[in-house]
Amino acid sequence: MLSLQLRNLSKPTNKCLLRLSTSYFQRGFSSTTPSSTTVKPVEGPELREWLIHQQETDPFRKQLCLVDVRERHEIESVGKIPGALNIPFSVAKEHPELFNAVLSDLDKNKKTVFHCMSGRRSRSVGDIAVELGFKNVYNLEGGWKAADTIPHQPYAKNHSPWVHTIFEKETETAQYVVTDIETREAYIIDPVLDYDPFSSCVHPSTAKQIIEFVRKHKLNITKIIDTHVHADHLSAANYLKMHLDSKPEFWIGKNVTKVQDVFSKKYNFPKNDFRANGEQFDRLIDEGDTWTLGGNIQCDALFTPGHTPACVSYRIGDAGFVGDTLFMPDIGTARCDFPGGSVEDMYKSIHKIYDHWIDDTRIYVGHDYPPSDPGRDYDVMTTLDAHKRFNKMINTHVSFDKYVSMRKERDASLKAPRFIHPSLQTNLRGGTLPSREQPADENEDPASVGRFFKIPVRWKD
Ligand SMILES: [Fe+2]
Repeated sequence: MLSLQLRNLSKPTNKCLLRLSTSYFQRGFSSTTPSSTTVKPVEGPELREWLIHQQETDPFRKQLCLVDVRERHEIESVGKIPGALNIPFSVAKEHPELFNAVLSDLDKNKKTVFHCMSGRRSRSVGDIAVELGFKNVYNLEGGWKAADTIPHQPYAKNHSPWVHTIFEKETETAQYVVTDIETREAYIIDPVLDYDPFSSCVHPSTAKQIIEFVRKHKLNITKIIDTHVHADHLSAANYLKMHLDSKPEFWIGKNVTKVQDVFSKKYNFPKNDFRANGEQFDRLIDEGDTWTLGGNIQCDALFTPGHTPACVSYRIGDAGFVGDTLFMPDIGTARCDFPGGSVEDMYKSIHKIYDHWIDDTRIYVGHDYPPSDPGRDYDVMTTLDAHKRFNKMINTHVSFDKYVSMRKERDASLKAPRFIHPSLQTNLRGGTLPSREQPADENEDPASVGRFFKIPVRWKD
């Protein structure tokens, strides 16, 4: 009866909707509250069928997005529906522009179901979503209590951060800004410094986009994390460190020293110019390190060697950043043929992720290389459960031997990354360019002498 009255009211403006969120907190829900005509109701049993269908048939999680708008303390006390993304409704009251930005980052064409404890706050958020342009919005009628036919899972120290993706198409790299929306503390993961090989120029166009995003949303960046020493793009971590007012730390896995040792010898870095001891980074992350983003988003690190010996995967609440390990399910995994890489290690590392993180963890990959047939758009996230079921190279039914032979065969067909030498020579140094060459003539101004990347060459008959 109540919901019927609500659906018959006229559609308010966006400003009205934001005021609705605020006024809801001030006076509570009443039958005179305006609402959109296009938020549709869904009952618990029907939502359960949708969730099961998605789990069994949708490797990319394209069918449905479930958004839980309860407060974090409510989830801590009674748990959550697996796969639900949490955006606390209180943020709509305190920071409506931030709430709208987080909501707008979701796919507006996807069926989106909002739920809360009683169905009231989620209806208000449904109205906001409609106003923001979401096409297919549902409210779980009766809220959490009506969802008793849907399996729940207890709170597992995995609150949802806001994950914003900035995809860099030249190197097909996914860069992430990961934010606790209650405090605005945020991390940047795997940022790209642009490189033009024809003009031999390095430029920060992409990094400036990240800075613009950070400033627009008043984020406090405290860490920049590289999941590994990238061989296909230059890291913008040092540039961002220098240009963000918050002066964030640059983190990388502690086995970076193994990679530094191997490649500093290959490139014959002068000993007075480079030490392979990780001093170029602010913190070297160890296996099992734990820390907190914002007030209560728990984070931890897993060593996941395979692509390189220093790869680390990071869990930040319910989001996992796996760098170059898992790729999207129709691609499989990253390559393992760089010096220090290991197909065998990659299999063990991915199974370590499968064993340590819970199934509804959102897995954000380091790159996406969409296949041409059938083609698809760039995509960077699906759940751990989807990988276990659908990853074409390493779902849970693929044996160690099968994976090893498949990966080795694929790696044998791959060329070296286009920017491998500039990337390694920058990233081993913590995202800084090689030092200037020494002047040949003592009267020459050292500042006028250039910097150079070394490109190895060999003769082949
Ligand atoms: Fe990589």
